[in-house]
Amino acid sequence: MPSIMNPFFLSILKGVEDAAIENDYVVVFCESDNRRDKESLYFQVFEERWVDGVIFSGVENDSEEEKYIKSLHKKGIPVVLIDREIEGYFTNAVLIDNKGAAFNATTYLLELGHRKVVKIAGPQKIKIFAKRLEGYKLALEKYDLSYDPRMVVEGDLSVEGGAAAIQKLIVNKMEFTAIFASNDLMAIGALKELQRNGIQIPCDVSIIGFDDIPLATLVTPPLTTVAQPAYEMGVEAVSLLRKDIEMRKPLENKVILPTRLVIRESVAPPRDTL
Ligand code: RIB
Repeated sequence: MPSIMNPFFLSILKGVEDAAIENDYVVVFCESDNRRDKESLYFQVFEERWVDGVIFSGVENDSEEEKYIKSLHKKGIPVVLIDREIEGYFTNAVLIDNKGAAFNATTYLLELGHRKVVKIAGPQKIKIFAKRLEGYKLALEKYDLSYDPRMVVEGDLSVEGGAAAIQKLIVNKMEFTAIFASNDLMAIGALKELQRNGIQIPCDVSIIGFDDIPLATLVTPPLTTVAQPAYEMGVEAVSLLRKDIEMRKPLENKVILPTRLVIRESVAPPRDTL
């Protein structure tokens, strides 16, 4: 997994751990820390030491990671991709519909009457975050709103990254009444930075996040967000991996689990429509 510090991945791990131990498997958790060198090291270890299978969410989801997977397949070690797919590489995968979920979240803001919606995007080199941006753009298009790249700021998925995005928008004197962030940590960072600048949530600005980590209910106001079924993704990944191991050949099942938009107090119609 990319980061042990992000609660989203801990929810995945919990699902993996519970399902694995129930089926007499032991889990070794490896954090790449979003670093390619660590990711490469772990795959070398997997190849050299005996593991039954690997559940993998990659740093950049590119051909390099595809090579890691194929070399494990050559040694008869199955791999299940979770959360972050590698475009075009068809192997077992447990995913969500990132574009559809982002489209729904953005549409919800537009239906409330917002027309100046900022997107705090995840790193666009990672495919699922590019898909979330696509969903945002599609929703604008459906409402005949033109896409303004100045309304999109890329963040690094951290609380600090969300705050930095707000600072950039304020410096650029961008006007907006709503924000859709590609994960909860950036949404929370943005929320706190807006409040630090005297901006009230949701009266002045509405915010929607993505993941539904436990912290989302603990911030003030509680965060509206796209709930990812992280725990269930972990359980499903173990189920696919067990089938692979027992069938002794890499299968190619792609499971898409549903998300849902959880409405809390961080969203409201824009002030001028109240
Ligand atoms: O918060 C971490 C993000 O990266 C989540 O949205 C999840 O999809 C992961 O890939």
